[in-house]
Amino acid sequence: MLAITKSVALQGLDGYMVSIQVDISSGIPQFEIVGLPDASVKESKERVKTAIRNCQWEFLSRKIVVNLAPADIRKEGSAFDLPIAIGILVASQGEKDNVVQNFLENTIIVGELSLNGKVEKVKGILPICLEAQKLGYHKIILPKENANEVSMINGIDIFPVSHLKEVMEHLNGEGVLKKLQVREVDTKNTGVYPFDFSEVKGQENAKRALEIAAAGGHNCLLIGSPGSGKTMLAKRLPSILPDMSWEEMMEVTKIYSIEGYTSENEPIIKTRPFRSPHHTITATSLIGGGRNPRPGEISLAHYGILFLDELPEFPQNILEMLREPLEDKVVTISRLNASTDYPCHFILIASMNPCPCGYYGSKHRQCNCRPEQIKKYLNRISGPLLDRMDLYVEADHVEYNKLDSKEVLETSAQIRKRVNQARKLQRERYQRDGIFTNAELTPKLLEKFCQLDRKSKKILETAFQKLGLSARAYERILKVARTIADLEEKETIQEIHIAEAIQYRSLDRKYWKEES
Ligand SMILES: Nc1ncnc2c1ncn2[C@@H]1O[C@H](COP(=O)(O)OP(=O)(O)OP(=O)(O)O)[C@@H](O)[C@H]1O
Ligand SMILES: [Mg+2]
Repeated sequence: MLAITKSVALQGLDGYMVSIQVDISSGIPQFEIVGLPDASVKESKERVKTAIRNCQWEFLSRKIVVNLAPADIRKEGSAFDLPIAIGILVASQGEKDNVVQNFLENTIIVGELSLNGKVEKVKGILPICLEAQKLGYHKIILPKENANEVSMINGIDIFPVSHLKEVMEHLNGEGVLKKLQVREVDTKNTGVYPFDFSEVKGQENAKRALEIAAAGGHNCLLIGSPGSGKTMLAKRLPSILPDMSWEEMMEVTKIYSIEGYTSENEPIIKTRPFRSPHHTITATSLIGGGRNPRPGEISLAHYGILFLDELPEFPQNILEMLREPLEDKVVTISRLNASTDYPCHFILIASMNPCPCGYYGSKHRQCNCRPEQIKKYLNRISGPLLDRMDLYVEADHVEYNKLDSKEVLETSAQIRKRVNQARKLQRERYQRDGIFTNAELTPKLLEKFCQLDRKSKKILETAFQKLGLSARAYERILKVARTIADLEEKETIQEIHIAEAIQYRSLDRKYWKEES
């Protein structure tokens, strides 16, 4: 007696169809799961067996073999419990009629089982559901507790179930599974953030740099003395980030769904992520990986911000690992049987003191570090990582009169309006070029979209020679100038734009002058 059920397994954000073939034959009683199941799938055996018995069905004392095909990819997780149990029960019943056969052939089934037969929530339900749809399936049975997370998906009939019995009653014609109603989701950004830029006094330069970073997707390094507001500024960055498109929301939500970070009340991630890992983070948690690969902080920051506070405190080997993902926007985790890709298109914002005491370069307090101490401290950040920063900005001590001032400052909502407008211009300009922001401009596209007039060229040439800029720095200045022009809604880059962009590249000369 053979029964086949269908399920979907994930590899990164993508999935593949798993065919669960259950064969029950006479022979020495045993229960085997084959087809590269990992330890978590093997545990399924006990859950399925106990759940079936506790539902008062007989678990046949026969030879039961469950094959998970394709057999060359390692399967993990508990989501196969339900399709395995259904396969066993259907195969135990002997001859199936066509209706049941048809239903099982055309329906994806996912769900973990508890020992009493209750169907439990699984991780990654959104990518599973989307993949089922992509594979051409029109029906999916999934845990009721997951239903809200996928209720916005059109084009596939979703049948939420809370117990194994419900599915069997449906197959036996004793009950009918109820289809989930498609729910419209409000994708509008609520615009409510816990922090606002209007709370930051002074620091106009740093605020401006963060506005440019948000508008063009540029990486930014904040350098300054203790207590000047670097952490405070960075924490407010989410409140000025551009609104997300539907595609961006879905991609980010898929990553969060895999990690089980989506909730019934907040099924869709509508605001850009802001991840701020501590400097004690491990390489695996930052980049992703592990025995059963998981996305790391850089992927959880996808389409949002990765904030590294106190940058020199991060171990050098951890910082070096960021270099490739920063360029590629995707991280590939390889292991024995497969390699998994996770997207990681984030803006890197970092903050640091310029020296161990924190006051090197400050206009307000004497630094008491020795030159070699300063050099050693600054050298913890490697040249290639520094080179990937588009904006360098100083946040020095704020004057008392600014802190005490009752002046009404610009709110995040006002800044976000400009950022949104600048992003719209970029989207329209690059719609045929496969990029979204100025930070992604390739050398060829730079030539096409960042033409300079004679005067601007002269300014850039002078700065290039005076500051001894690298080719990479030259490109980054052009990209930042493009964003500054976009914030002003100017189609051509003008002298003031290029002059301002150069200013954000001159700070690294101040601190790292000898190295570069
Ligand atoms: N520009 C500012 N406007 C208003 N409050 C500020 C400002 N700068 C600092 N503060 C106050 O000081 C506190 C400390 O600032 P913050 O932690 O951002 O400093 P920091 O630059 O990150 O310092 P460190 O280098 O020690 O990490 C803030 O929580 C805030 O209350
Ligand atoms: Mg700080």
